[in-house]
Amino acid sequence: MAAEDVPAVERLTAEGFYELDLRTTPPEWPAPTPRSEAKAQAWRRRMAHILRHDGQGCWVAEDPSGLIGVAAAIRRDLTWILATFVVRPGLQGRGVGRMLLDAALSYGSGCLRGMLAASGDPKAARRYRLAGFTLHPWMFLSGPVPRDLLPVVERVREGSAGDIDLMNSVDRRVRDAAHGVDHEVLTATYRLVVVDRTTGSGYAYVEPRGGPYLLAATNRRTATDLLWETLAASSPDASCTIAHVSAANEWAVDVGMAAGMSLYTSGYLALRHMRPPMPYLPSGHFL
Ligand SMILES: CC(C)(COP(=O)(O)OP(=O)(O)OC[C@H]1O[C@@H](n2cnc3c(N)ncnc32)[C@H](O)[C@@H]1OP(=O)(O)O)[C@@H](O)C(=O)NCCC(=O)NCCS
Repeated sequence: MAAEDVPAVERLTAEGFYELDLRTTPPEWPAPTPRSEAKAQAWRRRMAHILRHDGQGCWVAEDPSGLIGVAAAIRRDLTWILATFVVRPGLQGRGVGRMLLDAALSYGSGCLRGMLAASGDPKAARRYRLAGFTLHPWMFLSGPVPRDLLPVVERVREGSAGDIDLMNSVDRRVRDAAHGVDHEVLTATYRLVVVDRTTGSGYAYVEPRGGPYLLAATNRRTATDLLWETLAASSPDASCTIAHVSAANEWAVDVGMAAGMSLYTSGYLALRHMRPPMPYLPSGHFL
């Protein structure tokens, strides 16, 4: 992948994931929508960041029509992480994905662990399992959060780039690998809330519509307080989501249910040589 590919890569992933959502979303789930321009912009910024720091993990496939596939992986400490993986709809199931994933996996040689957020596409699950990943189904909770259900949460403060050392320490404790440079782009993109008490530390990046984009903490009590804080940022009239909840993170199911949200399952946490981290609600891209 070259820097000039980033806009076309963004379009390809928007098209690929929207087509997947239309194909797989049950009628009772929140209806799929095309990626907004604001999200597309954040996506390009994130991809440019990944390409700058992990260029050898970023691969595209082309045919005479242009770009037809992309796989991008990062390495943080000794963990290999897949950030994105898509083949153009209509050209899937013909072996392009296998070549792209093999190229991205080669960037992980020497890594001790691997992790990725797998979609519910059976073709993706097949590729990951054949590459040796263990698939842990995950849940998500969705729905509007009534104000009267929000508890008072104390000693959660606004965070900043000055908290990056603290967040890297929490990351290493929870998932053995710091987010490192990713915190630079994340602090510039998302609102950050932090807990730093004698009894526990943690942080959460908050989605613009409320709910967590990424949450990690040293214990469940701290994680629970942070998750409520992200839900408090939602609008009572709009649906909010807690995504990427593995069975090891039942504390998050309990918060979502206490908030009156509905529970569904979708996709997998795919891991190699590691157990599901907790308390941890990973992002889809940087995990
Ligand atoms: C996941 C994805 C990137 C894989 O790329 P691809 O080019 O389709 O992958 P491949 O053709 O190399 O491999 C697909 C495998 O699934 C098999 N397959 C095809 N259709 C299938 C189906 N309906 N159900 C199950 N397996 C299927 C293929 O035979 C192949 O297995 P094989 O190599 O053992 O024969 C692509 O399908 C895609 O973009 N999906 C939508 C977006 C997505 O889910 N991305 C993954 C994000 S985690």
